[in-house]
Amino acid sequence: ATPETAGATDDGIRRRDFLDIAAVSAAGIGGLAVVYPLVSQMAPSKDVLAASSTEVDVSAIEPGQAIKAVFRKQPLFVRRLTPTEVQEANDVDVSSLRDPQTLEERTKEGHGDMLITMGVCTHLGCVPLGAAEGEVKGEFGGYFCPCHGSHYDTAGRIRKGPAPKNLEVPEYEFTSDTVVRVG
Ligand code: FES
Repeated sequence: ATPETAGATDDGIRRRDFLDIAAVSAAGIGGLAVVYPLVSQMAPSKDVLAASSTEVDVSAIEPGQAIKAVFRKQPLFVRRLTPTEVQEANDVDVSSLRDPQTLEERTKEGHGDMLITMGVCTHLGCVPLGAAEGEVKGEFGGYFCPCHGSHYDTAGRIRKGPAPKNLEVPEYEFTSDTVVRVG
């Protein structure tokens, strides 16, 4: 099946949501040994999908790039912002936002350019498209949800459309300079 025609999996997740997973592993089944290359027919194993935590090697993500991983059976967006995007996010008047949060509040100290969010629209749960992945050029340079047109900015904050909240930032920590453990 092509990515466009692949149907829902047993886990209810559309395969095309995970085509460009670059590096993802599940804690407890071998650390970073599990790496998914950019093979269109490859989908995460059930072990990875079911894992309660996920480790992501962020070392290969260049500024302006993002990857998709999997966390709690849902898409996880891992994006390294460019210095310009960081500046733009910090220039926003937070009090004007629907869900007021600073970029600093949505990232970890010392890693203010690394944005980690769930890839789940807070309106009705569709998977937004990302500007960093080259999928779409959203009005606010972050993410665009094709279902009902919610726009998120480069910090994953809701800026326009029906979604009520920012893209969720899950619990996570840096276990080294280059590895993030989510969950
Ligand atoms: Fe994203 Fe409705 S589910 S805008």
